[in-house]
Amino acid sequence: MRIINNIQEMLELAEDLRRAGKSIGFVPTMGALHDGHLSLFDAANKKADVTVASVFVNPTQFSPNEDFDKYPRNLERDIELAELHNVDYLFVPVATEMYPKNFVSTIHLDKITKVFEGEKRPTHFDGVALIVAKLFNIVRPKYAFFGQKDYQQTLVIKQMVQDLNFDIDIIVEPTVRLSNGLARSSRNKYLTDIETEKATIIYKSMLMAKEAIEQGMSERKKIVDMIENKISQVQEMKIDYIAVAMQNDLTEPQKFQKGDEIVILIAAFMGKTRLIDNMLITV
Ligand code: PAJ
Repeated sequence: MRIINNIQEMLELAEDLRRAGKSIGFVPTMGALHDGHLSLFDAANKKADVTVASVFVNPTQFSPNEDFDKYPRNLERDIELAELHNVDYLFVPVATEMYPKNFVSTIHLDKITKVFEGEKRPTHFDGVALIVAKLFNIVRPKYAFFGQKDYQQTLVIKQMVQDLNFDIDIIVEPTVRLSNGLARSSRNKYLTDIETEKATIIYKSMLMAKEAIEQGMSERKKIVDMIENKISQVQEMKIDYIAVAMQNDLTEPQKFQKGDEIVILIAAFMGKTRLIDNMLITV
């Protein structure tokens, strides 16, 4: 595996690969790699000739009151894991080159960035869109892989790719979970063992709602209330939002119809740690 820190070097490599007719599968990450990231590397390996991953904790997607400084970083371990999972090139840019002093551009997406995660973290998705657009231009992939874990993020990326005519296939891979159901996340490192166990209530509440929906519960508010009651059983959990919406555009009808493809989206704090998760359901 070759590690690339320099943008120009990555651009030249991408151009060489393109000329040689090799397709690039790209997995952007913020490091602190876990099984969720590794499943994306494996998917890229299967689909593309060459796998490129990036590790960059992107400052523009954190707001000042969030955990940018504290965000787990362990590049040595990330390098080992990426190598083990057959990543061919690991792009690890430096912040001063990605965002030099004279940098002034922004990317803003409307609508999809205003609800749920976007309402709670108003500048977050613009930061995500900006860095992903930059990485797409530098790495020039044919395929890019994202986790369903960050469902709203996948919608934002797909929308941007469509609006700005990136010639890239966006591929979404299922959420990887611990055996107790908790979604794998770099932020799980902040949790104690007891908190980790208690946080499984998020997944359990979605399973319960799925069953209720399958048995005919169709009023959105009732489903949301049911999930809220379940999560509230764990005193240490503080709900940030619970939403049940249409998968394609995140609209929230009062009642769901048979055949509707819907998604449950949850964000909740366990102590100071903010966790998100989601579940896709066909009514
Ligand atoms: P990060 O949180 O490091 O996640 C990188 C990719 O791994 C994302 O596509 C995310 O959805 C996926 N992922 C995380 N946990 C997962 C899990 N349990 N199962 C499956 N996939 C999982 O998401 C970001 O970084 C950033 O916003 C980024 C896109 C890199 C832009 O900075």
